[in-house]
Amino acid sequence: MTKVLVLHGPNLNLLGQREPEIYGYMTLDQINEEIASLGNQLGIEVSFAQSNREGVLIEKIHQAVGAYDWIIFNPGAFSHYSYALRDALAAVEIPTIEVHLSNIQAREEFRHKSVIAPVCVGQISGFGVRSYLLALYAVFEMRGAEK
Ligand code: DQA
Repeated sequence: MTKVLVLHGPNLNLLGQREPEIYGYMTLDQINEEIASLGNQLGIEVSFAQSNREGVLIEKIHQAVGAYDWIIFNPGAFSHYSYALRDALAAVEIPTIEVHLSNIQAREEFRHKSVIAPVCVGQISGFGVRSYLLALYAVFEMRGAEK
């Protein structure tokens, strides 16, 4: 069975109360439940992790080797400047989809650039919780195509 790690970066533990006009009213647990339920329907095993710390996220990526076939990653603000996270993804070569709840291109200029996207299969941004669900559909469509 295809195994996916859904990794949430900084401040995403505050979803539901954090700028809800931008990020919506669903909590991270509720978002994870939706993803898990789609995973069930698609026959994909999904695990979840969240951290506010760059080093912890890097270690989760390292530990994903041999354990997961894909990573769905919302790096939060690290997207825009963390070369360390980018290097971690490049090192492990696990196909990764970058997701954002909000449309980062429609927001402040500093959010327009992702340093993570170039080492990802692709990026899905702007669909709220559906960004994660669309990423899971992409895994479903592409499973078995990883090297
Ligand atoms: C975000 C977008 C980032 O710019 C921001 O720093 C976040 C959330 C999103 O999901 O829309 O923390 O990754």
